[in-house]
Amino acid sequence: MTEQDFIPKSFKNTLDKGSFTWSSPSNIALVKYWGKKKNQIPEIPSIIFTLDTCRTTTMLSFSRKQSDEHFSFEVFLDGKQKDDFKPKIDTFFKRTETYLPFLKDYHFKIETSNTFPHSSGIASSASGMSALALCLMSVERSFNEAEMTNEFFNQKASFLARLGSGSACRSIEGDLIVWGNHKKIYGSSDLYGVKYPFQVHDNFRNYHDTILLVNKGEKQVSSSLGHNLMHGHPFAQERFKQAHNNLSKLINVFKKGDLDAFIEIIESEALTLHAMMMTSLPYFILMKPNTLEIIDKIWTFRQQTGLHLCFTLDAGANVHVLYPESEAEKIFEFIQNELVAYCQNGHYICDRIGFGAKQL
Ligand code: PMV
Repeated sequence: MTEQDFIPKSFKNTLDKGSFTWSSPSNIALVKYWGKKKNQIPEIPSIIFTLDTCRTTTMLSFSRKQSDEHFSFEVFLDGKQKDDFKPKIDTFFKRTETYLPFLKDYHFKIETSNTFPHSSGIASSASGMSALALCLMSVERSFNEAEMTNEFFNQKASFLARLGSGSACRSIEGDLIVWGNHKKIYGSSDLYGVKYPFQVHDNFRNYHDTILLVNKGEKQVSSSLGHNLMHGHPFAQERFKQAHNNLSKLINVFKKGDLDAFIEIIESEALTLHAMMMTSLPYFILMKPNTLEIIDKIWTFRQQTGLHLCFTLDAGANVHVLYPESEAEKIFEFIQNELVAYCQNGHYICDRIGFGAKQL
């Protein structure tokens, strides 16, 4: 597939008005996307677990208007008008207009809500942009019903979501998604996310992710600024090679269900992401003292018990604790007894691997 394949030829029956609702999940990267070219083309491939509980629900209502030079839309979060979301959506519409040529023919009302608190330090861009992209794809499909396969629908939704926020392209389907060209992963693409095509051992079924909210509130470094720091970064080329290698190694790890090897790759990826931020110019430390306390406790507990919990991090201070279903009871007890104390106001979210977006 190329970009050209996502430009629609013609629409048979456009509608005057309508509305569609999608609920789309967040995702957690195992091999991290950090560094991009223009239009969210990633420097490296990434692989993620789609989440289940952390979701955005978006209802998009559309009504025909006189076509003119401008996009016309209003945005609501939890029923309240959110004009500060508008610039990001305006940019998204500009980037996707070639592929959704009806955007200026309608007025859109975007009503959105998240299952996780807005200022929890969990980015809503992946779930939010994917939910919006899916709603727009439903509009497109309603104009050309018979001719669109589900495969094309998902691929184009992922392609559009990527133009809103890179990581959003990995939130359309589940449970394991790869985004970015990788020589060993057939069908992988820089343009959209694809389902991981190989065997995955039962050890990874129902994998848990308990998200410890160490620091709520706005991100210290925006993703765009962060990705840009990889341009001219002294360690960028080595990092890019490492990400390709880690994804290659994971193929065997997933097949064999090798949890020890999984832990080593996942924790190294998280720390490397932060190492890249500490060694860029300007430099940032995005972990907080409690992030390190949690990591230390996880390592000690793992050494003492041999249980297979590990951590990963996004570009912030919150800690995602990942662990298998078969050990969930003991590990969750440890989290409650030992780790929750390091969370801001004791807040954490219990999530697990999920299966992608749902139309409501
Ligand atoms: O989608 P963005 O531009 O917000 O980038 C997200 C990057 C990380 O969360 C740090 C890593 C990843 O792969 O999700």
